[in-house]
Amino acid sequence: MNKQVILGVSGGIAAYKSAELVRRLKQAGAEVRVVMTQGGQAFVTPLTFQALSGNPVHTDLLDPEAEQGMGHIQLARWADVVLIAPASANLLARLAHGEATDLLSTLCLATEAPVCVAPAMNQQMWQDAATQANIQILAQRKRHIFGPAQGEQACGEVGPGRMLEPDELVEAVSALFETGVLAGRQVLISAGPTREAIDPVRYLSNHSSGKMGYAIAQAAIEAGARVTLVSGPTDLPTPSMVERVDVVSAEDMYNAVMQRSTQADIFIATAAVADYRVDTVASSKIKKDSDKLTLNLCKNPDILAEVSGLRENRPFCVGFAAETDDVHAHAKQKLLNKGLDMIAANQVGEGLGFNAQDNALQVIWAAGERELPMMSKYKLARELIQLIAEHYSH
Ligand code: PMT
Repeated sequence: MNKQVILGVSGGIAAYKSAELVRRLKQAGAEVRVVMTQGGQAFVTPLTFQALSGNPVHTDLLDPEAEQGMGHIQLARWADVVLIAPASANLLARLAHGEATDLLSTLCLATEAPVCVAPAMNQQMWQDAATQANIQILAQRKRHIFGPAQGEQACGEVGPGRMLEPDELVEAVSALFETGVLAGRQVLISAGPTREAIDPVRYLSNHSSGKMGYAIAQAAIEAGARVTLVSGPTDLPTPSMVERVDVVSAEDMYNAVMQRSTQADIFIATAAVADYRVDTVASSKIKKDSDKLTLNLCKNPDILAEVSGLRENRPFCVGFAAETDDVHAHAKQKLLNKGLDMIAANQVGEGLGFNAQDNALQVIWAAGERELPMMSKYKLARELIQLIAEHYSH
């Protein structure tokens, strides 16, 4: 899912399931920060959630330390989605009435991200007219209501009021980000660095982490596409539903991409492909006998230019341009030279582009351009996919 999720935990026995929910969200690729109400803390300790999420747990609205670091406004801005599970009857009532009496209710008012509630309570409390009226209000305000499920309850009664299972909640949250703009399309993406062997133990490479390409793969899945990701070496987990093909060198990447290029509707080249490789790779480790060592390099094939030059079944081609200066001019030149449909240019250098969490892009096509300002690579990927979908037509 690769989203920034705030998991709100309010008071209810189902809070024990939220521990598993954190694990499942993380497995799905999300980063999770937990915000607990006082009631929530009576059921499960913040320490449990801290250990599982790998982030400090937030409990107080007026915590001076939190205000310096992740106060309610920062948390509200950080979130791609707020999921409250379990959402008690009390919490639903406070949300329905716009109360800002604790950190969780306050950040729900302060966030622009979608707010989802997974109610969990005794079946009689759920069916009570007051709770039902509160749910109506929340639904009218476009809050997402996940569940509750029917079944046996902790109190021994049977009826509606059980919190949805963690897997169901992860699926429901993921579905919020599915835009469908590329439904049924086959998208081929290259990502990460390549490694060009010098000898059996050394190689030439670059600082690409693969984050940009993986975020685009995730966004394309959310947009309904089938996605193949040809990836250079990275430590990143494969986004769910993405077919990943691992490669090492530029030549491997070239072969893997060319094999799949004519079946693709769209090719997005985010990989930082080595332009040159060592002419003759030494078969054993090069010894440091001399003061100077000269490596002869030869040019690698330009994967993107080859795909773009296909005469038949050519996919819509989107390149990236990593530039340290004259970003716009160089990118435009690459758009023309490689005959691309679109190019996304980014400034690279000290802390920029490569391996960073955030990025900014200037997206250029023949008849126009769009500036996508600095934001997380996941948000950026969603915006770029939206732009590609607007321009791709077949
Ligand atoms: O991976 P991250 O750490 O998240 O960093 C992201 C990024 C900075 C690597 C990414 O945003 C980016 O800019 N990728 C393209 C890097 C690059 O190699 O740019 P370039 O200007 O050298 O190449 C232009 C285009 O041609 C690129 O789409 C590249 O994939 C493609 N190319 C280049 C050479 C080659 N032999 N084959 C290619 O396909």
